[in-house]
Formats: sequence, C-alpha cells, structure tokens
Amino acid sequence: MNIESRLAQIGSQEDPATGAVSYPIYHATAFRHPRLGQSTGFDYSRTKSPTRTILEAAAAELESGDRGFACSSGMAALQTIFALFSQGDHLIVSLDLYGGTYRLLERIMSRFGVSATYVDTNDLDALEASYREGSTKAILIETPTNPLMMVTDLEKAAAWAKRKGLLTIVDNTLLTPFLQRPIELGADIVIHSATKYLGGHNDVLAGLIVTKGQALSDEMAILHNSIGAVLGPQDSWLLMRGMKTLALRMERHEFNSVKLAEWLKSHPAIEEVYHPALPHHPGYEIQRRQASGNTGIFSFRMKDARTVEPILRHLRLIAFAESLGGVESLLTYPAVQTHADIPEEIRRRVGVDDRLLRFSVGIEHIDDLIADLGQAIDAALREIEEA
Ligand SMILES: Cc1ncc(COP(=O)(O)O)c(C=O)c1O
Repeated sequence: MNIESRLAQIGSQEDPATGAVSYPIYHATAFRHPRLGQSTGFDYSRTKSPTRTILEAAAAELESGDRGFACSSGMAALQTIFALFSQGDHLIVSLDLYGGTYRLLERIMSRFGVSATYVDTNDLDALEASYREGSTKAILIETPTNPLMMVTDLEKAAAWAKRKGLLTIVDNTLLTPFLQRPIELGADIVIHSATKYLGGHNDVLAGLIVTKGQALSDEMAILHNSIGAVLGPQDSWLLMRGMKTLALRMERHEFNSVKLAEWLKSHPAIEEVYHPALPHHPGYEIQRRQASGNTGIFSFRMKDARTVEPILRHLRLIAFAESLGGVESLLTYPAVQTHADIPEEIRRRVGVDDRLLRFSVGIEHIDDLIADLGQAIDAALREIEEA
C-alpha cells in the first residue's frame, strides 16, 4: 500500500476484539501472567506497553527499519542512542546542528568520555579529515540541517561510513518518512523529534528511534528499557493520531513554504533565503534525488539586524515561538532561541547570526501568511526610518 494509506490506517486494524478503528489507550503498567512461565507478551509497561507497541511498529514500518522505540522526547531518543557509545568513543556530527543535540554532546556526553567533531557531513574530505582510527564509531547527520537547510547526500555519506565500519545515524525530524527514508539510503538508525511534524499539532512531546538489523535492534531494546525514557500511553495515542494526517499536512507545509520562500526572495529587505526547493540552493539537486519533497522549514537573513526585533513584535497571525513542524506557523530567532547553546564562534562559522530568522510554515492560507509577514516587515522598516 502507498504511504498515505499506511499512515491513515495506523492502529486501525489492531484491535480485533472490539474492532475499534482508533486503537485504545492502555494505561496499565502491570500485566497479569496466566501462569508461571507464561506471559501475554506484556509484563511491565517500561519494557513494553500495548498502545506504544502499535506506534513503534508503525514507525519501524514507515522508516523501512526493523524495530521502533518511542521515547519521552527527541532528546530522550538521542540520549538513548548515545548510550550505545563508551568512554573514548568519537562521533562525527553535522556542523549546523540542533542546539539541544550539541548541548547533550558537549555538556553531558563529554563527561562520559564521548567526544564529537562537527563538520559539513556532505564533504567527504571533511569526513575523512575528522575520522579517528579506532575511536570514531558513528556519524550523526541532520539533513536538511536547521536552520541553514544544508543538505547531505545520504547515500554517499552512509557508504563512506560503512567502508570505515561506522554506524550512520540520521535525524529525520525535518522531512519525516513521508518525504525521506534514510534507512533505504544506507542509514542504520533514524531518530525523530516526533514533537515536530509527526505529532504535527504542537501538543505532544515525543521522540522515535528506528533501527535496522537484528543485533542493533536488540541492543537498542536493552538501552530503551534500561534508561526508561519511554513514551507514555496517552502521548503514544496522540502521536499516532497526528501521524494519520501526516501526508496531507506535509503537502500543505511544502506548498506554503515554497510560496513564501519565493515571495521573500524578491523582497528588498531580505538578503538571502535558505530553502532547498529554490534552484540556487546548493543542496537543490541532492534533495530532489533523495527526498520526494520539501519540508515546511526555511530560513532567511534580513539585510539589517535592527529589523528583527520589530518584525517579531508586529506579527499578528504567525507566532514568535521556538518549535517547528506544527499546523500553526512559528517564527524563530535561532541565535537567541534554539541555537543559543552553540558557541558564537561555531554559530558564526555556519551563519547563524543576529540577522537570521527561521520560519516553520504552518497550514494556514498562503495569502494570510504573506500578508502577515509583509505587514510586519513594513512596520519594522517604518520604525527604523522614523528612529
Ligand atoms: C532536529 C531536531 N532533533 C531533535 C530535537 C529534540 O527533540 P525534542 O524537543 O522533542 O526533545 C529537535 C528539537 O527541536 C530538533 O529540531
């Protein structure tokens, strides 16, 4: 079946006893055993829980992996993955990285002796230069990155990693399995902040891990259960409900974001627009090859840093807030919000400066979005002129 059908049907045929079209929420943490040595398959809900199991199976299937693991947040999913590594291990990580992932690596994992080097993961020479024989264990890729929308050729990077005997981990939060399936391109592990497009409504915090291969899946199951940062039944259900409409939402997110990016591209107050759907974007060709569409996120750089504060203040429909992937449009100021924990030196190197704004384009009507951003930019320009 096509992915649209598989998404819409998540959990709908899994309860033969009642025929419930919406899978029930099982709150039980303990499960009765019929007799010694027998189990219904469920013992204790940290290890396995019915509602979460339906979600995890759907995630694995959608990402073309073998097993899915639902976690209490995207960061919990990353922490669970990082527990694969031991003292002395080294990771190669995308340069333009989500700030929380950077913080987890630099403030916490570093204390356990796990180090990371941040490079443009689309640059094979950079990968080669950062590789440390014996200690490098994995490559962690975000593609496209956020906020600068840098694109990595996943097939090429995963093939390089395989030659070196490294795991390839891909954060697929921005594109979702509807648009990009990294395991089909050679990745071993996919991670999601499911809080974003998969949930889709800015109302559930969740993370997902999908693994490929028996040994890796078994190891991840031990880590997931041992660390215990698992997703509760209510949130598992909310996430599945969100995922049922993923295809429709992604199509509208893409349509709106491309229209807005094209509109901003010719606006005199804007210096640059970063959207992989625009043909001048360096990742345009790779993105077209490895993904079936574009995400609803893009960034733009104002010509004058003084316009940023009044633009955010004058927005009426679009919210000044720091998340992405929901039906409501949000504008984020990465340098002081999502990427504040990344040192200024690294931020400047990649281009996350005080003129950069990130737009998570929602599913509102495109005319209303253009009108709102337009009036906010006009008001900001007027204020600067009058000052
Ligand atoms: C690309 C990416 N990965 C991981 C995370 C962390 O996910 P969560 O906020 O669900 O813990 C985020 C959060 O913004 C993200 O954007």
